[in-house]
Amino acid sequence: MSKCGVVGAGYVGLATAVTLTHLGHEVTVAEVNPERLATLRDGRSPILEAGLEERIAQGVADQLLRFVSDSREAATEADFVFLCVQTPMGASGRADLSYLEQAAEEIGSVLAQDAIVITKSTVPVGSSRVVERVIRREDVKVVSSPEFLQEGSAVHDSLHPTRIVLGCDDQAAVAKVATLLEPLGAPMIVTNPASAETIKYAANSFLAMKISFANSVAAVCEGIGANVDDVMLGIGYDPRIGVAFLRPGPGFGGSCLPKDLGAIKASSEDAGYKFELLDAVERVNEQQLERIVNKIARHARPLNGSTVAVWGLTFKARTADLRDSPAIEIARRLRERNARVVAYDPTVAQSGPELEGIDVVTDPYAATEGASALAVLTEWDEFRWLDFEKVASLMKHAAIVDARNLLDAAPLRKLGFEYEGLGR
Ligand SMILES: NC(=O)c1ccc[n+]([C@@H]2O[C@H](COP(=O)([O-])OP(=O)(O)OC[C@H]3O[C@@H](n4cnc5c(N)ncnc54)[C@H](O)[C@@H]3O)[C@@H](O)[C@H]2O)c1
Repeated sequence: MSKCGVVGAGYVGLATAVTLTHLGHEVTVAEVNPERLATLRDGRSPILEAGLEERIAQGVADQLLRFVSDSREAATEADFVFLCVQTPMGASGRADLSYLEQAAEEIGSVLAQDAIVITKSTVPVGSSRVVERVIRREDVKVVSSPEFLQEGSAVHDSLHPTRIVLGCDDQAAVAKVATLLEPLGAPMIVTNPASAETIKYAANSFLAMKISFANSVAAVCEGIGANVDDVMLGIGYDPRIGVAFLRPGPGFGGSCLPKDLGAIKASSEDAGYKFELLDAVERVNEQQLERIVNKIARHARPLNGSTVAVWGLTFKARTADLRDSPAIEIARRLRERNARVVAYDPTVAQSGPELEGIDVVTDPYAATEGASALAVLTEWDEFRWLDFEKVASLMKHAAIVDARNLLDAAPLRKLGFEYEGLGR
């Protein structure tokens, strides 16, 4: 059994912590946000992730998991310390490393002899060196091990990683981390820190590119009468391409893809290369938001002064995360065009500051009352099974813009809805 410290109790930190306790290690998690910490100490999860709360409870019951407010307490005596703090978008698209540097600064002087620090946060090339410099300890090695989990399946992805990347020039440190994580049974890629850091950004850029590609093909399909769902299936079965992330939608968002694209573009510019492919990926994403708003406007007739019902506010289903959600940006643009927006999302109980100007209701039908159009913006499965006859009777004008291609068009049209999806 090893002693592990985890700094930051967000998606990555908590998934990492319960994975380590699952492997039988003793884990102390530090979290500075007092509300998050209180929730965790109460035995609850501060974020919505399938299986997380149960595994936290199990870890605490097994006396393998505890939560503290200070990273120093988590790092003292630990053999391994995982840095899982946020790296938001900073000035001119660059990653803001201040949280990472702060965490490294805090733990530097209290780390045990020969401890290993593992950076799980997504950080640009050179950040491992920054952490090393801040820690200022010859005996402590820093390993860059980016995280690839997806929100909505964070615990599963962390327990069953597709691969583990270990970036470090010290082979002994790599061997220790590899031994710690080897029971997860994932392929390991051992490389230098710069490559490890680049792998994460390149992976997210590629995923964003797939989404923008799907959205572009959907736009073409609309013009020529093809069905984008069939087209994507048809190309996705090619193992060189793959079906994942080839679904059209309202554009990519969330706390990772937009910021990681900005960061890799900034890094490549620093390196003297203009990553124009990613400029196009971003442009398509921006156009997609406007395309959805225009679709809604066409059906609301007119948008100005109308009520638009929105189903789905989170950036994707099975998470409560609203960070950089395309649904919120679409709602904001609808408001700009003088529409009233009434929204329902299964995970959002009330309007917070990020939802300013949006009326949030806790019932999907209530959102549609008197609406001139209904926009489906997040792919929550439960939306499929609602009573659309009731929805039609509640709306002023029965029109649906399905920005996730989630619903079945034929039965809705039979009920008298105007239905418009993407590229079909
Ligand atoms: N969310 C994802 O799906 C995902 C997936 C892969 C990688 N990542 C990357 O992992 C990193 C973390 O992402 P996240 O979504 O888990 O972030 P998050 O914002 O949910 O969690 C970070 C937590 O760290 C805490 N924290 C910050 N500084 C601290 C300190 N000095 N001591 C103790 N706690 C501290 C914050 O209060 C916060 O709760 C980011 O770099 C992100 O890009 C995220």
